[in-house]
Parts: sequence; C-alpha cells; structure tokens
Amino acid sequence: MHQIWLSLLSGLCLRLFFFCCAEEGLEFPNFDGKDRVLDVNERNYKKALKRYDLLCLFYHEPLPANKGLQKRFQMTELVLELTAQVLENKDIGFGMVDSQKDAKVARKLGLEEVGSLYVFKDDRVIEFDGELSADTLVEFLLDVLEDPVEMLNNAMELRAFERMEEDIRLIGYFKGEDSYYKAFQEASERFQPYIKFFATFDKSVAKHLSLKMNEVNFYEPFMEEPAILPGRPLSEMDIVEFVNQHRRATLRKLRAENMFETWEDDMDGIHIVAFAEEEDPDGYEFLEILKDVARDNTNNPELSIVWIDPDDFPLLTTYWEKTFKLDLFRPQIGVVNVTDADSVWLDMSNDEDLPTPEELEDWIEDVLSGRVNTEDDDESADDQDSPDSYVPEDSYESHDPDEEDDSDD
Ligand SMILES: *[C@@H]1O[C@H](CO)[C@@H](O)[C@H](O)[C@H]1NC(C)=O
Repeated sequence: MHQIWLSLLSGLCLRLFFFCCAEEGLEFPNFDGKDRVLDVNERNYKKALKRYDLLCLFYHEPLPANKGLQKRFQMTELVLELTAQVLENKDIGFGMVDSQKDAKVARKLGLEEVGSLYVFKDDRVIEFDGELSADTLVEFLLDVLEDPVEMLNNAMELRAFERMEEDIRLIGYFKGEDSYYKAFQEASERFQPYIKFFATFDKSVAKHLSLKMNEVNFYEPFMEEPAILPGRPLSEMDIVEFVNQHRRATLRKLRAENMFETWEDDMDGIHIVAFAEEEDPDGYEFLEILKDVARDNTNNPELSIVWIDPDDFPLLTTYWEKTFKLDLFRPQIGVVNVTDADSVWLDMSNDEDLPTPEELEDWIEDVLSGRVNTEDDDESADDQDSPDSYVPEDSYESHDPDEEDDSDD
C-alpha cells in the first residue's frame, strides 16, 4: 500500500516503477516501511527538541473520517517519511503534531498555522511555506543545516556569487570572525535559508565588489547595482530592518521552497504575474524585457512582479492554463486577483513581436492605476460568456475559476 503511494509521489519514481533496469547508479529511494516520523506529544517533545540539530514538525488537523482525505493525509505523512529516510544520516528529527490531541504542545512550541511545517534550529523556528514534496523539502532542510553565512574567499567563489541574480543576497566585508561580522551573522540567522548572506575577510574580494571595511551591500534580484546599507558599522537590528523593508523585490521568481509565502505577499489583493520559460527563446526574450522594466522601476515600492517559469512547476501548469485560460507555451503577463483567481492578461497573441519595454511599462502603469483590473468585465450580463478584452481566445465558456467543478472526493 505504502509502496503504491510513494511511486505516485514523483513522476520519475513512476517511470522507474515500470522500466526497472538491471544497471546500478541511478536508484530512486523507495520508502522502506520503517517508521521514522515521531508522533509528537507532551511526553516526548522536549527530548526531541534537545536530541536533534534540526527538528521538523508538521502541524496538522486531526485524521479526517473521510476516506479520500485520509489518503491525502497518508501521502503527506509519506512525504515526511521519505524525507526522513533520505536524510537519515543527518541529525534531523521529524514529527507530527495533531492540532486537537496535541493542542498544548502546539501552543508551547508556538505552532500556529495548521497544515504548516516548522523547523526548529537552535532557538529559532523557521516556517516552511513551500510545496510539500520530498524533493523540495530535502533541499530546504539541507539549506537550513548549512551555516547561514557563506564565505567568499577567492575569485572563483566571487564569480559564482555574481551569477546568482535570482536571489536576494547580502554581502559584508569584515576584519575577521571577531568583529562586526558577529552582528551580520546574527542577522543572517533570522532569514536563513530564504535570504542569502555572504561575507568576506579578503581584501581583494572586497575591492572587486567596491566594499569598504564593515560595509554591507544588498543585492535585489535581477538588479545590476547593489544598495549600500546606510551606516557603518551596522548592528544586527540595522541589518534586519533594512532587509525587512527591501525584501519584496521588483521582480521575484516564484520558487517551490517558499511559493506560498510569496503568493500571500500580494499587492492589495492582486499579483502581477509573468509566465516565461527561460529555456524557450521567446520566454528568454520576454524575461530580458521584464528585467529592463524592473530595473527602471526598482524604486517604485508599489511594483512587484512575480515571475513563474512553468518548467519549475510541471504539476501546476495545466491547473494554471485552465484557471487563467492561457497558453503557457507562450510568455504571458497579467493581473491575478488572489481572492478569486479572476485575471486579465496582456494580449500578446496578435503580433509576432513581444511588447517593447515601453509598452510593457505603459501596461504596468495602467495596472497600478487601476485602469486595467480584473473587475471591469465582471458586471456584464451574467458575465460567464463575455470575452475579456485582454484575453485572446473567447472560445472558453467561463473566465471564473469558481465555476469549475473541482470537488475531488
Ligand atoms: C478581488 O475579488 C474580490 C471578490 O470577487 C473582490 O471583492 C475584490 O474587490 C477584488 N480585488 C481587486 C483588487 O480587484
């Protein structure tokens, strides 16, 4: 039974299931049936906290009576079991906390959101707000295990740093371990693993980055020039406050490891969403235009565009195509209302050319001023059939995702 569920967890597993081969060296883990995930309760939670470098707790609703929902619950449990199995030789504990049975423990540990996963490291709690799959979770936990600050010691590491344009990065130049580096390190712990902190003690690395002693630079994703944190030396709180103020980037990439957090951080109920496959020539071009626009508008606090590369989310692509009535083989940009997933999309179907940065900027201005919005088309009689002026195809029956019947039991 468990075996069958696990093979469903990943497409690749499924493939191996059918094409079982004799060669070695490429073997996906299959759940071995050994229970590693603890049922956390009042008696054992303190011991668990002490025992591991990381303790990873899934806070869940009581086991549902409905069979379909039970299966869903078992799948979640299996994601944790498989993750625990794969990371067996790391010092990570896994547990489940029942929101009813273990309400007291949950309160003591400060667990709030049912359905969330909390990671305890030293005296910190990190909430995992990403896709609950074994792949994503394993990667996330390995990141959390690392030191929160990565050192840049030479030109090679510097080049790698410079290529990480999708990430929010901070870099500081310090004398050594016993210096203002300490405050930087303390600050980094609060953002691990979502925001990357780098430091150097090396004069030539610092010179290359034009860093003065005790200076910290903040790189927004896709921007060419960093912002310099005001003041030198900086306290932990100086750094924390600056990051909190600047962490919503003008252009940010949706990632499996924190996708829900990103999605919840909307702009007054909407997101400007751009779909573009980086590996596709049109998608790549469109992304370059987006970056241009983002660079021009980086000082506009109102603007944040969520870039989604459909290649990163194969399981969601058909859902998005259906919900937004889109062809995701082409680049798209639109506005999505996060309350009801109602959306309007810039019409890019007629011309061969992608919009110019100027055209895109005009459209974004229309969105921010409310001239382009998801509501205008909603009044028209019954609405169901009215084609949206920004939607190229009107062959669809409904533009409202609530109309779709998605009962899944
Ligand atoms: C989003 O949709 C909800 C529900 O239809 C509506 O009440 C709200 O005004 C919309 N928000 C925006 C910003 O259009």
